[in-house]
Amino acid sequence: MTATFYDRLAPYYHLLYGDWEAAITRQGDALSDLLTAQGIAPGAPILDAACGIGTQAIGLARHGYRLTASDISPGALARLRDELARRDLRARVQVDDLRTLRGVESESMAAVLACDNSLPHLLSDAELLQALRTCHRCLRPGGVAVFSVRDYASIARVSPDVRPYGMRHAAGSRFLAVQVWEWDGDQYDLRVYLTTESPTGACTTQVLTSRYYAVSITRLLALLGEAGFVDAQRRDDVLFQPVLLARRAHAAG
Ligand SMILES: C[S@@+](CC[C@H](N)C(=O)[O-])C[C@H]1O[C@@H](n2cnc3c(N)ncnc32)[C@H](O)[C@@H]1O
Repeated sequence: MTATFYDRLAPYYHLLYGDWEAAITRQGDALSDLLTAQGIAPGAPILDAACGIGTQAIGLARHGYRLTASDISPGALARLRDELARRDLRARVQVDDLRTLRGVESESMAAVLACDNSLPHLLSDAELLQALRTCHRCLRPGGVAVFSVRDYASIARVSPDVRPYGMRHAAGSRFLAVQVWEWDGDQYDLRVYLTTESPTGACTTQVLTSRYYAVSITRLLALLGEAGFVDAQRRDDVLFQPVLLARRAHAAG
């Protein structure tokens, strides 16, 4: 379900932003500053394990990180390959599931990232713990994990919760995207209504559906500890949503 949702969304994903290019630059700069402050300078091997079409990955590749970019959506990765090629940037791009990361060697990465609320696509604490343990496995001793997530504790649970992105203009057409959330306990179904209006006024609407687990940041911090991470902390000064930062302990001795 998640892969299909992002496969279908991939051609339109940049239109969810008012200015995607500016977001790439802003987020790449902010994450590069964060990693550098953690002792992970450009040139280090890093993994964006939920890269999508590359909002963080492109900026980080531009900063000179040795990037592996993976995602569960082949459609998003096809678009990322095009976006990297257009900018003459290089990365290893591969389909991989955050819960297993079979294509990534143990202890090979200086940092593992999964940004813009990717973790809550995993629908239980057990799945989240599996993913966090897997990220821990991929990190070198002393390496860091960086996850950005929604703060669900600050969101009122009303159904339907209608959230418009705004009107965009692309290739002579108008484009309108609206999210609708419908709650079901600690999870919610998310529908994205994508309407394109051509210059002649002809409209088409697609409806894409996905599901999220509204896991709290307190719970995620506890799961990071259970997965073996140390120094897990919430940072509100990095991106547009809270960032969880945690470290794999340095090797003893
Ligand atoms: C909101 S998008 C963010 C994408 C990207 N980080 C960005 O900001 O452009 C969430 C991403 O998580 C990916 N994702 C969800 N579940 C995943 C899983 N189990 N393994 C790998 N990627 C996953 C989706 O395919 C999607 O690309």
